[in-house]
Amino acid sequence: MEKMRLGYIGCGFMAQKVHIPNFTSISDCELIGLAEVRSELGRKVQNRFGIPHLYRTHIELAQNADIEAVAVSADFALQGEIAKHLLQAGKHVFMEKPMAVSVEQAAAIVAASRESGKKLMVGYMKRYDAGNEIVKAKIAQFRETGELGRLTYARNHGFGGDWVCNLDTQMDGTDESKPSAPVKTPEWIPEQWRSSYLGYLQQYTHNINLMRWFLDAGDNVSVKAVDLDENGYSGVVIFDMGGIRVTLETGHVSHYRWDEHSQIYFENGWVHTWAPPLLLKNTPAEVEIYRAGTEQEITRPIPKPSWSWAYRREAEYFVANLRNPEPFRSSAEDTLTDVRLFEDIYRIFIAQQESR
Ligand SMILES: NC(=O)c1ccc[n+]([C@@H]2O[C@H](COP(=O)([O-])OP(=O)(O)OC[C@H]3O[C@@H](n4cnc5c(N)ncnc54)[C@H](O)[C@@H]3O)[C@@H](O)[C@H]2O)c1
Repeated sequence: MEKMRLGYIGCGFMAQKVHIPNFTSISDCELIGLAEVRSELGRKVQNRFGIPHLYRTHIELAQNADIEAVAVSADFALQGEIAKHLLQAGKHVFMEKPMAVSVEQAAAIVAASRESGKKLMVGYMKRYDAGNEIVKAKIAQFRETGELGRLTYARNHGFGGDWVCNLDTQMDGTDESKPSAPVKTPEWIPEQWRSSYLGYLQQYTHNINLMRWFLDAGDNVSVKAVDLDENGYSGVVIFDMGGIRVTLETGHVSHYRWDEHSQIYFENGWVHTWAPPLLLKNTPAEVEIYRAGTEQEITRPIPKPSWSWAYRREAEYFVANLRNPEPFRSSAEDTLTDVRLFEDIYRIFIAQQESR
C-alpha cells in the first residue's frame, strides 16, 4: 500500500506530546507538512521531527496536493472550523475532540464532509483503548447470549485527577502568543454560562461518547434528568441510552491518578472498567467481569498485546482506515449526538437555574 501522506495543524501540547510522535512512528504514514501560526515554534518542531514543509496556516498547507489527510489539534472552538476548511479543500481529517461546541457548528462540519466526500475522524481515543474494546465485546456477548440476564443499568464516574503523569516527551516552547479563537457556543446560552458549558463539554464529551459506544446506543439517547451544582459541572446526569438508564457522575478530586470508571450491570453480574490516566503510555483500561450464580466468579481479561496506548492505537486506526469506504469508529456523524446531548443538558440546567 502506498504510504499515507499526512499534514499536521498546530504544534501545541497534544501535537508535541502525543500526536506528532505517534504519527511519525507509524510506518504506513509519512508526515510531510506542518502548519503553525506561531512560526518560530513551527520551525523548531519541523526541525526536530524532520518534516519537509512548514506553513503558517492550515489554509496554506491545504494547497499542497501531495497531502492526502490532515490531523488537527487546536483550541477546542477553533479546531472544528479548521477541520471544516480542510474537508472543503478535499482532505481527509483527523481532529482532536470536541468536534464542535454547538449543534449548528457540528452540522456544518458534517455537511462539509458529506459534500466533499472526505472522511472525518474525531479523537475519542477511549474507543481505541484495547481494554475498552474488550468491555464493548463482552457487553455485546452478554446481551446476545443472555448468560448474565438482562442489562439493567450503567454508570460512568469521572472525577479526574492527574492525566499527564509526568509524560517526559520533549516539548519545544515559544514566547509567541496563540491566535485568538472564536466563541462558537450556542446563541441561546447566556453569557454567564458559556465558560462552564465549555468546561463541562470539553471534559465529559469523552465519557458520554464512550458510554454510547459501549451500549451501542447510536443516536437513540435522551437526557432524563440533570442535577448539577451552580458551577454547571459537578453532579449527576441521567440518560436513556437505547432503553438503558445510564448515570454520569461528574466532579473534581485532587488525585495523583485518574479517577474514572464505568460499570455495566446485568441481572447476574457486571462488566466494570477503570480508565488509565490519559497520558500514561502503554496502559490500557482495566477490566473486571463478575458472574453471579453458582460459580460466583470474577475474571480480569487482559488485552493482547498486554501493553498499548489508546492514542497510539487511534492514530494507527486512522491511517489504516482512511481509504476504506466505511465511516470511522468515531465519525463526524456519530459525534453529532454528543454535541446535541450537551446542549440538551445545559438547556435543562439553565432553566433550573433561572427558575430558582
Ligand atoms: N483527547 C484528549 O484526551 C485531549 C486531551 C487534551 C486536549 N485535547 C484537545 O486537544 C486540543 C488541542 O489542545 P492543546 O492543548 O494541544 O492546544 P494548544 O493551544 O496547546 O495548541 C494549539 C496550537 O495550534 C496553533 N494554531 C491555531 N490555529 C492554527 C491554524 N489555523 N494554523 C496553524 N496552527 C494553528 C496554535 O498556535 C497552537 O500552537 C483541544 O481542542 C483539546 O480539546 C484532547
